[in-house]
Amino acid sequence: MKMMDLFKSMTIAGVALSSYAHVHNHSLIKGSENTHPFIVIGSDMAQTSKSLSTFTVIEDHGDSQIAIVDGSEKGELSHIAHVDHKRCGGYFAFETLENAQSFVNDSKGNKNAQNVVFADYNLDQRELVEEKISLADELSIRNTILKLSSFHNRYYKSETGVQSQAWLKSHWEKLTEHRKDIKVEFFNHSSWDQPSVVATIEGTEKSDEIIVIGGHADSIAGWWGQAGKKAPGADDNASGTATFTEVLRVLAESGYQPKKTVQFMAYAAEEVGLLGSKDIARSYKRANKNVVGVLQLDMTNFNGSSSDISIINDYTNEAQNTFLKNLIDTYLKDLTWASSSCGYACSDHASWTSQGYPASIPFEAQKNDMNSRIHTANDTIEQSGGTAEHALKFAKLALAYVIELDN
Ligand code: BES
Ligand code: ZN
Repeated sequence: MKMMDLFKSMTIAGVALSSYAHVHNHSLIKGSENTHPFIVIGSDMAQTSKSLSTFTVIEDHGDSQIAIVDGSEKGELSHIAHVDHKRCGGYFAFETLENAQSFVNDSKGNKNAQNVVFADYNLDQRELVEEKISLADELSIRNTILKLSSFHNRYYKSETGVQSQAWLKSHWEKLTEHRKDIKVEFFNHSSWDQPSVVATIEGTEKSDEIIVIGGHADSIAGWWGQAGKKAPGADDNASGTATFTEVLRVLAESGYQPKKTVQFMAYAAEEVGLLGSKDIARSYKRANKNVVGVLQLDMTNFNGSSSDISIINDYTNEAQNTFLKNLIDTYLKDLTWASSSCGYACSDHASWTSQGYPASIPFEAQKNDMNSRIHTANDTIEQSGGTAEHALKFAKLALAYVIELDN
């Protein structure tokens, strides 16, 4: 397993981590016998583990339990997992109780967010949807892509990565300056300089219900990044950012006043482990905010497959994915969709999923057909034919999504 893949499996707790555990837990534990006393086990293992003298359950979470066990007995615990429960490794070890708790909570959130139906997905707003869709404009999207990709990079630790977010904020302010019910703010992160940018249209009737539409605004060159490297990130992810900027423009300019609150989020620091969106999704969860739907747009402008829109089916909410497919069939009749999977927590939707919120990501192509120039100096709009034709389809879908979910 490559270092990056290992990192990917670890970025999000839950499904990916259990497969990670299956292959790698022995080596993970070995060097950490005394430094990681907190363990999380499946509840089915609790009974058999009681035979260990230092094993104590400290929190029962239903399907799983947090326990402490002395390093000297971890080998025995693995043995029990292996022999009695046919598992390799069988548990996760953590340095602090807090880390163990967030692991358990993320796993719970993951399960919930993928299977529960969170909203009414009836389609009954044809007139309004068709009107707004007709206002989406390819050239507006193209110009935003060109502007964002003109920064040397939008890396989370570079000066230009801060400047690009300041530009985006002022651009959104201009697009919405005639609207007193729209505010544009930075969401600052404590561990790095690049802020996320959040635009909020306050709901008129059910303002506590929040619809989130977003994507990452940062870019990177090379898989681990360097502040000095050129990274236009035109497709990854100026395209998604420009796509939901167009949704904001259309809704604001055409006077749409949502009943629910609609928030547009340009996340910082996605390319280094979904950091910006994780920070935001966690703070929403802590504040008990009622997010009824999350739409992630990451890479929308490279038309690499025969179907137009790929709906990613892992780390996403199934019912909301079906809703997106119905929106395409109903309002974008010329377009075709297919399902595809990332195989890991590939973008910011996973940050919301792991906090228990329903998220989806309509994607530019089948995973195998996606733009291969991302994370290089060649991720320019020319790779997508120099226009934003493909991204325009996603702006229309996102407009239909917001309007139908709002009503
Ligand atoms: N946009 C890319 C990758 C991607 C691929 C997103 C398919 C959605 C569908 C994203 O910015 C990225 O590079 N993600 C990383 C993982 C992240 C946790 C650092 C990746 O794919 O390796
Ligand atoms: Zn991306």
